[in-house]
Amino acid sequence: MDNQKFSVLIAGGGSTYTPGIVMTLLEHLDKFPLRQLKFYDNDGERQKKIADACAILVHERAPEIRFLATTDPEKAFTDVDFVMAQIRVGKYAMRSLDEKIPLKHGVVGQETTGPGGIAYGLRSIPGVIGLVDYMEKYSPNAWMLNYSNPAAIVAEATRRFRPKSQIINICDMPIAIMDRMAKIVGLSGRNDLVFRYYGLNHFGWWTDVRDKSGKDLMPQLKQYVAKNGYWLGDKEPGKEKSWISTYKKAADVYALDPTTLPNTYLKYYLYPNYVVEHADRNYTRTDEVEAGREKTVFTECARVVKNKTASDVLFQASNHATYIVDLCTAIAYDTKQRLLAIIPNEGAISNIDPEAMVEVPCLFGANGPERLAMGPAATFQKGLITEQNCVEKLVVDAFEEKSYTKLWEAMSLCKIVPDATVAHEILDDLIVANKDFWPELS
Ligand code: NAD
Ligand code: G6P
Ligand code: MN
Repeated sequence: MDNQKFSVLIAGGGSTYTPGIVMTLLEHLDKFPLRQLKFYDNDGERQKKIADACAILVHERAPEIRFLATTDPEKAFTDVDFVMAQIRVGKYAMRSLDEKIPLKHGVVGQETTGPGGIAYGLRSIPGVIGLVDYMEKYSPNAWMLNYSNPAAIVAEATRRFRPKSQIINICDMPIAIMDRMAKIVGLSGRNDLVFRYYGLNHFGWWTDVRDKSGKDLMPQLKQYVAKNGYWLGDKEPGKEKSWISTYKKAADVYALDPTTLPNTYLKYYLYPNYVVEHADRNYTRTDEVEAGREKTVFTECARVVKNKTASDVLFQASNHATYIVDLCTAIAYDTKQRLLAIIPNEGAISNIDPEAMVEVPCLFGANGPERLAMGPAATFQKGLITEQNCVEKLVVDAFEEKSYTKLWEAMSLCKIVPDATVAHEILDDLIVANKDFWPELS
C-alpha cells in the first residue's frame, strides 16, 4: 500500500465518536494520507447531523479529500481500504434498557458486562456480520477495524461465522489506562511504554510495564494504583462522576492480585455488590452520556452547520481515534508496531483454550496481527478467564442455535449474576425488550 492515499469508511457515521475520529484523521494526514472519507449509517437522519458538520470541516482543512455520507451500502463500501466500524445496534434507547433491566433485579446493569452486555451482544452480532459482508462484497481487500461493542462477543461471532474476514476487533480501554500509566510515571503517552498484557476484552491484566530503556515501571505504578487506582486527581477537571469512580475502584481490584495491574472493567466482576449499591436505577450511564457526550457533540455539529464554518470547532483528536490511526498505518506500511487486539488465542496464553478470543499484544503489519506469547495465566486469572470465555461462547451458541437454554446458561454462568432463578427473570425481561432485535429463542 506504499505511496498511496487511502479511502476510509466510518461505519456508524452517526456515532458520537465520529467527529473525534475525523479530527484525528485530519491531524495525521502526513502519516496516513487520505484521498476519500465516507460515512455509512442505517439512520440517515442521525448521521446527517454529524456529516453536515464534518463535510464543512473536511472541506476547510483538506479540500483534496472526497467526502460522502450515505445510507446505501454499495456506495459506502465500494472502493475503500479501511472500514472503521462503530455501530450501536438499538442505539442509546436499548443501552438504557440493558442497564436498567438487570438493575431492577439487583444485578449490575452495564453496556458490555453481565446481562446487559449479553443482550447487546445478541443485537450486535448480525449488525457487525452485515458490515463484514458488505465489505467483502464491495471491497474484498479492505480491512475492518471494529470497535462496535460488546467486542468480546462480536469477536467470538466473527471468528466463528466469518473466520477468513479481515476484521480486527479492538478496544480503547487498555489504551486509555496506558496513557494514564504514562502520566503517572511522567512519560508523555502510551507509545512510550513497552508492556505485557493478557486476558479477554474488558477482562485483562498487565504483567509487565517498562519504559523504552527497559526500566521496570511496575513498582512505581503499583504504589500509585494501590492508593489512587488510575485516577489522576486534580489533573482531570470535568471528568464524569461514573468514570472517576471506575478509575478509583481499580485500587480495590488491584488489591486482589498485587502481582499484576488490572483493567478497570474487572470491578463489575469482582465487586458487583458495591457497583449495584452505588447505582441509581433511574439514572444510569446512558443518561449521563445522553446529557453529556451526545448532547455536546450534536450541539457542536449544529453550531458548525449554522455558522457554515468549522474554523473554531471544539472537537479534538482523541486517544480512541489515534489508536485506530496507529493500526491503519501499521497495516498500510508494515511497521510491526506492538498493539493490542482481540484475536484467536492459538497459544498466546498457553493454558487457555486455543479457540478463545483473547486480548494480547500483537505485532501489526501488512498481513495483520502476529500474536506475541504471553505465557500461562496465573491460577486466579485462569479461573476467571475460563469462566467468562465460556459465557461469551454460550451467547454465540445461543444466537446460532436460537436457544433459550444456552442463553440462560450464559447468564447463570456469568460471575455477576447470583443464581439461575435471577438469570431466568432477567432473561425473560430482556427477551421482551429486545423483541425487534433478537432471534426468536426456543
Ligand atoms: P452512537 O449510538 O452515538 O452511534 C452508533 C451509530 O451506529 C448510530 O448512529 C446508529 O444509527 C448506528 N447504527 C446502529 N446500527 C447500525 C447498523 N446495523 N448499520 C449501520 N449503522 C448502525 O454510539 P456511540 O456511543 O458513539 O458508540 C458507538 C459504538 O462504539 C458502540 O458500539 C460503542 O460501544 C463502541 N465503542 C467501543 C469502544 C471499544 O473500546 N471497543 C470504545 C468506544 C465506543
Ligand atoms: C471504554 C470502553 C468501551 C466502552 C466505553 C463506554 O472506552 O473501552 O468499550 O464502549 O468505555 O464509554 P461511555 O462513555 O459510552 O460509557
Ligand atoms: Mn472497550
